[in-house]
Amino acid sequence: MALFSSSTRDLPSVAAVPGHVAVIMDGNGRWAKKRFLPRVAGHVKGVELVREMVRACLERGVQYLTLFAFSSENWRRPQEEVSLLMQLFVKALEQEVDKLDRNGVRLRVIGDLSRFDPHLQTLIRKGEEKTAGNTRLDLTIAANYGGRWDIMQAVNRMLADQPEKRDGWLEADLEPYLSMSFAPEPDLFIRTGGEERISNFLLWQLAYTELYFTPTLWPDFDTAEFDKAIASYQQRERRFGRTSEQLAKTHA
Ligand code: IPE
Ligand code: IPE
Ligand code: MG
Repeated sequence: MALFSSSTRDLPSVAAVPGHVAVIMDGNGRWAKKRFLPRVAGHVKGVELVREMVRACLERGVQYLTLFAFSSENWRRPQEEVSLLMQLFVKALEQEVDKLDRNGVRLRVIGDLSRFDPHLQTLIRKGEEKTAGNTRLDLTIAANYGGRWDIMQAVNRMLADQPEKRDGWLEADLEPYLSMSFAPEPDLFIRTGGEERISNFLLWQLAYTELYFTPTLWPDFDTAEFDKAIASYQQRERRFGRTSEQLAKTHA
């Protein structure tokens, strides 16, 4: 069984603050282009906004923050941009892990890390180990991550663990093998940059998540913008397949 039961089976009321926020940080390139700067300048600014977002989550009591930093499809970008993104990732880990640790943040990186260079893999492992005891905020970076990859690696590991079992598999059998098995499903999904698509992010886990799309580019997505997303979330009625009337009774 997964540590947390699926939000599609429970009936949580919309809390003042979403417990788990998942974000596609998009629009760095366009932000730079508008300023006649190279795309990487947008990524550099984007890292600053990650810092601000972590601070905002700590202040607001968000327990899980999951950020899509690099998709399995982003390798298709020009080699120079990919390599600059990797350098930024290394630099961010070198500079930020101690600060995260001091602030009680637990860092995890999900995705197929085998394609990253060994130095980056070591930094990731060390950052995860150093912060493993922290409980104030669970910060997860999705890197070389793809929702379909995640489901397939989970299926493969599940089948390998019980080769004698042929059928009758349940959702709950698969869930412990998914990369996000340690967390409840996201309550609020945010995508900046105007695109209204999931781009192979957490496909399994977003089944009943409230979706928020904003044209604001990621480097402009400051705390005030985050609060707008939370305010929008607070207006939603999460029914999980039920009717409004049923909800009124449950919460009465
Ligand atoms: C998101 O910004 C960051 C990554 C995908 C690494 P983009 O680089 O996709 O920015 P746009 O969409 O081109 O503006
Ligand atoms: C999605 O952004 C992935 C990340 C933000 C890491 P993209 O900019 O790569 O997405 P598409 O290609 O426009 O869907
Ligand atoms: Mg983009």
